[in-house]
Amino acid sequence: MSEPTKRDGSRFLDTLSGKTLSVPPVWLMRQAGRYLPEYRALRAEAGSFLDLCYNPALATEVTLQPIRRFDLDAAILFSDILVVPHALGQEVRFVEGEGPRLDPLTSRADFRRLREAIDLDMLSPVYETVSRVRAELAPDKALIGFCGAPYTVATYMVAGRGGDEQAPARLMAYLDPDGFAELIDRLVEASVAHLVAQLRAGADAVQIFDSWAGDLPPAEFARWSTAPIKALCEKVREQVPGAKILAFARGAGAKLGGFASAVPADAFGLATSENLAAARSVVPYDIALQGAVDPIALVAGGAALDRAVDLVLEALGGAPLIVNLGHGVRQQTPPEHVAQLVARVRRRAG
Ligand code: CP3
Repeated sequence: MSEPTKRDGSRFLDTLSGKTLSVPPVWLMRQAGRYLPEYRALRAEAGSFLDLCYNPALATEVTLQPIRRFDLDAAILFSDILVVPHALGQEVRFVEGEGPRLDPLTSRADFRRLREAIDLDMLSPVYETVSRVRAELAPDKALIGFCGAPYTVATYMVAGRGGDEQAPARLMAYLDPDGFAELIDRLVEASVAHLVAQLRAGADAVQIFDSWAGDLPPAEFARWSTAPIKALCEKVREQVPGAKILAFARGAGAKLGGFASAVPADAFGLATSENLAAARSVVPYDIALQGAVDPIALVAGGAALDRAVDLVLEALGGAPLIVNLGHGVRQQTPPEHVAQLVARVRRRAG
């Protein structure tokens, strides 16, 4: 199939290719969402959160809302990491004000009842959304597709929920490592198919979110985060040569160097807690880093936000940099603080 086409004038894609720009590109994880009144209006129209994810017309609109309002350099597909377990046959629902709920997988027998392979037809509205967004975006704006990393998705599949409930998957990994490996392998294959479908539908790059990997001790991290993400990148590129990939192992800390030397990504995401200079020193200089403004500084705004942005620009600005948060935009964030962040990045670096 076709290689992803490089968009002319995309600062985001130029940075992923290893260029250092005086004005770095900027986008934010969870840039579409409940902090935006225009999102809340469409969300009310769609019904449930999953209905919104599977409605191409509304999901396209929601994806584009933050681009229109803030002129960010990249759009991220509006969807969720939990559509993958859903398309593997696990029941997934989102409880208002609480978050995701899945029927927990407590044994090998439970996950053997799931589909062997992901049902891509179930996700065809997601790929339709990708195509529509790409058609509507200006050529200098990039479109990012995504999936959850196998480990993070497995934590939700095993616990049946998110929050601080990551222990059940870790417990399963210790008690039945072969069974857990079977689940992880199935998620690698499903995620490859899901990312390839997004790239073929028009995504310019894809991001892999390992939101819970940072908590793992080093040996477990190597086995359940690094190795599956490495395999995922390699298998995606077998089908889409040159695919642009960002890998975000949130809170990798001292494990980042090993992660970045094993995983062939074009950029690595940094969480709020990272020491930025230390991170830069363990990742090769031609590989972009993405992050890591504190989402709480974005809630605060004012001088605290300017300072948080400046610290990222100062620590990471001499090499390929994509300005982002260290985790997603919080619901209580005043939208005008996002405009302030974008202005600060463009004014200071310009
Ligand atoms: O703007 C974007 O970043 C694109 C869309 C996106 C969402 N979720 C939309 C969403 C992306 C990239 C995600 C990724 C995601 N989803 C992750 C990885 C990143 C991270 O935050 O660590 C995880 C762990 C999930 C799982 C998930 N989805 C949880 C735990 C929750 C509940 C918490 C919450 O904020 O409500 C969701 C729901 C969700 N995903 C919402 C949105 C906009 C809120 C749903 C609503 O409107 O009610």
